[in-house]
Amino acid sequence: MIDRRRLINLSVTSAALMLPSLRSLAKSFPGDLDPRGTIGRLERLPKLDLEAREDLSTDFRIFVNGDLRRKARQRSDAILKAKGLPADADLPLDQTMELFGNDPLIAVSNHTWKNNQDLMWRQLHAEFHGNADQFLTEMETADMRGPGSLELNPTMHIPDYAKHEIHMQPGGYVGDPFAGHMYHYGTNNFYTARNNQDEMHQGYANAVPLPVDGKVRRILDLGVSCGQLTVALKQRFPDADVWGLDVGGPMVRYAHMRAVDLGVDVRFAQRLAEDSKFPDGHFDIVTSYILFHEVSYPACQAIMKEAARVLRPGGVFFPMEVKMARPEPKRTAFGRFMNWFTQAGINERWYMDYMDTDYSAEIRAVGLIANDQGPTSDRLFGRHNVMGTKPT
Ligand SMILES: C[S@@+](CC[C@H](N)C(=O)[O-])C[C@H]1O[C@@H](n2cnc3c(N)ncnc32)[C@H](O)[C@@H]1O
Repeated sequence: MIDRRRLINLSVTSAALMLPSLRSLAKSFPGDLDPRGTIGRLERLPKLDLEAREDLSTDFRIFVNGDLRRKARQRSDAILKAKGLPADADLPLDQTMELFGNDPLIAVSNHTWKNNQDLMWRQLHAEFHGNADQFLTEMETADMRGPGSLELNPTMHIPDYAKHEIHMQPGGYVGDPFAGHMYHYGTNNFYTARNNQDEMHQGYANAVPLPVDGKVRRILDLGVSCGQLTVALKQRFPDADVWGLDVGGPMVRYAHMRAVDLGVDVRFAQRLAEDSKFPDGHFDIVTSYILFHEVSYPACQAIMKEAARVLRPGGVFFPMEVKMARPEPKRTAFGRFMNWFTQAGINERWYMDYMDTDYSAEIRAVGLIANDQGPTSDRLFGRHNVMGTKPT
């Protein structure tokens, strides 16, 4: 990821040539100034103005999803109270929309969330597309390099459910060559800059439970995006053969480039999680992190079935999801309204189905032994996560 830094170096050098006071600066750094470098593992964005706008957007998100959301929740309590309803009333969606849909404070809270997120994606999109040759060359250079490997399947059938511009990401995961780039920087904003060194993903990888006999030779990570969990799994289990699959070619391409950059030996492939192409009983551990809230219910069932098929007896399936963590948050009227807004406003296309699905039951339905009290960690939403074990 060297070229990204060079973009800034060249522009500083040309500015230096124009201003006498800066000429001596250019002389002392002929050609290349020191790279701007990284924030931990995360490469800095190439331009200071873009970085400043992204930082502002991240800070704004902290305010919107923190203080402002709390105020909106308090307002929802007041609205319910005024109608003689308890704060934890569970009401039908239509009624929640009537109650909360026209409230100005709740509307500001939701629409600033949406608009800030939209602006954040647009800024990243403009940067990566505005310097497309540079970023494509960088990926092409990494495609054939190791450690690890990359398998792209450009003619693969992409199911319709995977083509949405999920969370308003322009082009979604499959329709933009820079989907991986955008996802990485975009989710750093979602993680409110607490994941610069993949701390969150390392926490998830460390929470993954071991198979019954403790043996871990092969691991499969499903829906990897930019491969942060996949890399963290390899670092926790250095002797294991670690695979990461994603439906998005741009996602595994970016994931591979990043793993090469980090010197981590993992194998990324553009394949469907529900059609992994691996033999029965091949893996000791199958993981996924926040995959299931972004797929349709039939796809969820098909992916669970595939995970159970490729696990060996005694192997474990650990799908890390907000919803799969127990105890499940109690359903409230405001929660139901917010699930609707997450789906309709933020374009988390499958969110309401996801929130209505009983994942323990789904895990049991594919023949695994479900455990609602799986491992937890402060990184895992602070709750126990559902897991499945293949019967021996
Ligand atoms: C929210 S991201 C997952 C984040 C990632 N696991 C991590 O550790 O940061 C969801 C990913 O699942 C992928 N995906 C969605 N449906 C899929 C499918 N059927 N098969 C494989 N990948 C899929 C998307 O392309 C996207 O990259």
